[in-house]
Amino acid sequence: MTHRIWNLSAGPAILPESVLQEAQEALLSLGDTGVGICEHSHRGAAFVQVAEEAEALCRELAGIPDSYRVLFLQGGASMQFAMVPLNLLTPDATADYIVTGAWSKKAVSEARRCGQVHVASSGEESNFSRLPRTHSWSSHPRYVHFTSNNTIFGTQFASEPEGIPEDAFLVCDASSDIFSRPIDVSKYGLIYAGAQKNLGPSGVTLVIVRNDLVESGREDLPAILQYRTHAAAGSMYNTPPTFGIYLMMLVFRWIRDQGGLSGMEQRNRRKAARLYEAIDCSSLFQATAHPDCRSMMNVTFVTGDADRDEAFVAEATAAGFNAIRGHRSVGGMRASLYNAFPSEGVDALIEFMEDFERRQ
Ligand SMILES: Cc1ncc(COP(=O)(O)O)c(C=O)c1O
Repeated sequence: MTHRIWNLSAGPAILPESVLQEAQEALLSLGDTGVGICEHSHRGAAFVQVAEEAEALCRELAGIPDSYRVLFLQGGASMQFAMVPLNLLTPDATADYIVTGAWSKKAVSEARRCGQVHVASSGEESNFSRLPRTHSWSSHPRYVHFTSNNTIFGTQFASEPEGIPEDAFLVCDASSDIFSRPIDVSKYGLIYAGAQKNLGPSGVTLVIVRNDLVESGREDLPAILQYRTHAAAGSMYNTPPTFGIYLMMLVFRWIRDQGGLSGMEQRNRRKAARLYEAIDCSSLFQATAHPDCRSMMNVTFVTGDADRDEAFVAEATAAGFNAIRGHRSVGGMRASLYNAFPSEGVDALIEFMEDFERRQ
C-alpha cells in the first residue's frame, strides 16, 4: 500500500483515491484496449467515448441546459482571464469586475489589455478578508465578472452577487469551488475553472458558455483563441489534454456516486463547519476571513504571531499535513478542504491543532 499523507494543498490538490487507483490501471490499458490512456489517439473511438462521457456527466451533475456549450480547454484559468474579454468585450462596451483577491486582480489586468474595464467593487481595504456587499456598476456593462471562491484569502460568495445590471451577463471564475455545491448555470453567461482543485489534474480547464455568446464572439482573433473554434470542434481543434479529460470523467463519476453536487455540498459544509468551530473555540487560532464570507474550500487562519505560525507549520508538516502554509502573500495557515479531502483528515487536523495549543 502506498504511503499517503493528509494533503491540504490549494492546488493541484487531493483527488479521490479510488479515482487514482483506476487511473493507475488505465495508464497501462484503458479498459481492455491494451493501450494506455495517454497513448490513445484523441480521434480514436476509445478516447472519443471518454470525452463524451465526461461532457455528459458534467451536464448531468450541474444540470447544464442545452443552450450552453461545455468545453475542455488548455491554458488554465489564467488563459480565461484573457479569452473572456478577447471574445466578449466589444470595443464600445465596458466590463465590470468585482475584485475580491489576487486572482480577480489578475483577471482585471488581463481584461484591461483588451478593452474598457470598470472595477465595480473591491475588498482590498479589508485586505480581502471580506467580500464587498455593494457595487457601483458602470452604465451598461456587457458583463460582470466575479471570483466565486478566493483561494488565497479564504472567502467565498454564498450565492451570485446581487443587483447585476439588466442585460449584463455574469462571468464566474469558479476555479476553486466548482462542483463543490449545486449551481444554477442558467444565471451565468460563462463559467470557467482550472481543473486542479475539485475536478482533476492541472492542464485542463472547464468552460461552460452560453451558445449565443459563443456565436457572437469576435471573429478576428487567432482561431485558437476563439470559443467558436473549440465549440465547433467539440474541444478537439488541436490535441486536447486527454489524460486530464479522462481523470475529470472519473472524478465526475465519483461525484455522482457521492450524491452529486448536493452530496458534495453536505460533505463540504460539515467539514468546514467542524474546522471553523474548532478555530473559533480555540484561544490560540483565529480565522482570517470575516464570518459572513468564510470559504468552505480554503480555511485560512493565524495565531497572531508569525513565529508561532512558523512553528505550527513546521510541526504540522512533520506530522503529515501537507501544504498547510498560507499563501506567501498572506502568511499564516491555509487548510484546503476540497471535495476529495476526507472528513477523517479534518478530525486529524483538529486533534493536532488542539494538541499544539495545549503545548504552547
Ligand atoms: C480562483 C483562481 N483563479 C485562477 C487561478 C489560476 O489558475 P491557473 O493556474 O489554472 O491559471 C487560480 C489558481 O489557483 C485560482 O485559485
